[in-house]
Amino acid sequence: MIVIGSDHGGLSHKSAISSYLTARGLEVIDAGTNGDASVDYPDFGSKVAEMVASGQAASGILVCGTGIGMSIAANKVPGIRAALVTDAFMARMAKEHNTANILVLGGRVLDEQKACELVGAWLDASFEGGRHQGRLDKITEIETKYNCR
Ligand code: RB5
Repeated sequence: MIVIGSDHGGLSHKSAISSYLTARGLEVIDAGTNGDASVDYPDFGSKVAEMVASGQAASGILVCGTGIGMSIAANKVPGIRAALVTDAFMARMAKEHNTANILVLGGRVLDEQKACELVGAWLDASFEGGRHQGRLDKITEIETKYNCR
């Protein structure tokens, strides 16, 4: 189960990515937005992040104009590792090194086809573990230090 959300700046990309995920045989939850009206990205970033953090979805995808606001908002939720990526190398690394549980894309940065390619690169990659797990543990320690866990 994968949850996807966007603001108005990522709406058409959300539709394209949803179709791509469905064609790959994945079950998709659409967390909105669902219209052209201007909305606030933290509302959708937090919704998707909370669904991933609670286990309602295994992972998530967020799209706003640049991807910046969504990544800032999603990363406020404890347990979330949201990665804003702009090319296939970053998308692959986001899984291999960071085991990012949310992929973030910019609807005004990438065309829809490229965005789907990056989603595919992230989905196809696997976490390498090893030394990278120790680094993720240190991120969890930061959350604990600030009473986020
Ligand atoms: C909305 O205009 C825009 O600010 C938003 O989509 C995003 O780019 C924020 O980071």
